[in-house]
This record gives sequence, C-alpha cells and structure tokens, in this order.
Amino acid sequence: MTLDDYILDHIDSEGELLARLNREAHVNLLRPRMISGHLQGRILKMLVRIARPRRILEIGTYTGYATLCLAEGLSENGEIHTIEKDDEMEDFIRRNFEKSELKSKIHLHLGDALDVIPTLEGAFDMVFIDADKRLYSDYYDLIFDKVNAGGLILADNTLWDGKVLESPHSGDKQTQGILRFNEKIKNDPRIEKIILPLRDGLTVIYKK
Ligand SMILES: C[S@@+](CC[C@H](N)C(=O)[O-])C[C@H]1O[C@@H](n2cnc3c(N)ncnc32)[C@H](O)[C@@H]1O
Repeated sequence: MTLDDYILDHIDSEGELLARLNREAHVNLLRPRMISGHLQGRILKMLVRIARPRRILEIGTYTGYATLCLAEGLSENGEIHTIEKDDEMEDFIRRNFEKSELKSKIHLHLGDALDVIPTLEGAFDMVFIDADKRLYSDYYDLIFDKVNAGGLILADNTLWDGKVLESPHSGDKQTQGILRFNEKIKNDPRIEKIILPLRDGLTVIYKK
C-alpha cells in the first residue's frame, strides 16, 4: 500500500455517483486525468465547509466532478455556477448533474469563460480556476471585482508538474501562462495566498 492509498483509505469516500462518474470518464474520455479526483475533491468540499461561501464559480467544468464536490459542501441556500467551453461535454455533464440530489444548486454555463464571466450577475464568495492554463491571469483579472472581500479564489495546477522550476521554451504557452499567473499572485497586495503542494499544486487566495 502506498501513502496515497493509505490517505484515500482513511478519508471520506467519494461516494457512488462520483466513483461511477470517474470510472465512466476513464473508459470514455480522452483526458480523464484532468478530473480533480478523490483526494482533491474531498479537499474542495472541506474548503467549502470551512469558508461557507453562498455563491461559488467554477471555471472549467470538464466532467462536473469538482462541481459536484464543491456543491456537496454548500449550505441550504448555496449555489454554484460552472463554465465549460467544450459543448461536446454537455451530455456527459448534464447526465451526471441530473443524477445528483444537489442538481438544483448547480448552474451550467456553456461557452468561453472570457465571454461568460462578464455576463454573470452578482458577486461570488469562492472561485475555482481550473480551465486553460494560458489564460489563468485573464480569468483572475475578470473575476477579481466579482469576488466579495473575505472570499477565496482557488487555482488548480499552479505547480504544473514541476515545470514552474524550468525556463519554458517559447512554444510552451501553458507553462508560460502558469508562471505569469504565479508572479501576478505573488505581487498582488490585495490578497493573501498560499500554494498547497497537493497533486499538481493548488493555490488558495484570500481576498482582503
Ligand atoms: C482541468 S479540466 C476541469 C476539471 C474539473 N474542474 C475538475 O476538477 O474535475 C479543464 C476544462 O476547462 C475547459 N476550458 C478550457 N478553457 C476554457 C475557457 N476559456 N472557458 C471555459 N472552459 C474552458 C476545458 O474544455 C476542460 O474541460
């Protein structure tokens, strides 16, 4: 047994719906590794439990795995909006949301987050950035004024498989995007921030 197995054996289970979704994704989808997965999913739920956001925004739905985890942590009147630009994922996503008892809390927006975010009304207490690595800084700039003071912004993959330590070649736009985002966060006086060395790096940002 590895330490990772031990951890999964001693934390809350992901539940039947998410386990099935994960299996289905591994059989049918091209990039199932993009899914948050058991440990990160439980961490996302726990962060929601602790921070008690009323409105969450997720950028990058993919299968809806993390959406369902975040929704699990919400209180009675909480809601989550999630944006996905790949319309080929729509059936997969909607089928799985439909099976969840939390479906009424979840609002799926199909389209490019850069177009959708400006159309979203109201403020958010938590944002999970998990879409195109090249655009992390753009997403951040677009959502910042929509996040309430005291709110959290989470950004996934901010260690990018350790590539943040290398000088990316000119064609590696994803690593360049993550590096640009990490520098922006480092130098932004409006926030407090940490990077959790979890999986591929999860940055947790607190808006002052
Ligand atoms: C890493 S996956 C999301 C995984 C999901 N958040 C989870 O944890 O299970 C990234 C997703 O973002 C979507 N995406 C990429 N760029 C986007 C954009 N500009 N707007 C909306 N979705 C985007 C991709 O199509 C892909 O499905």
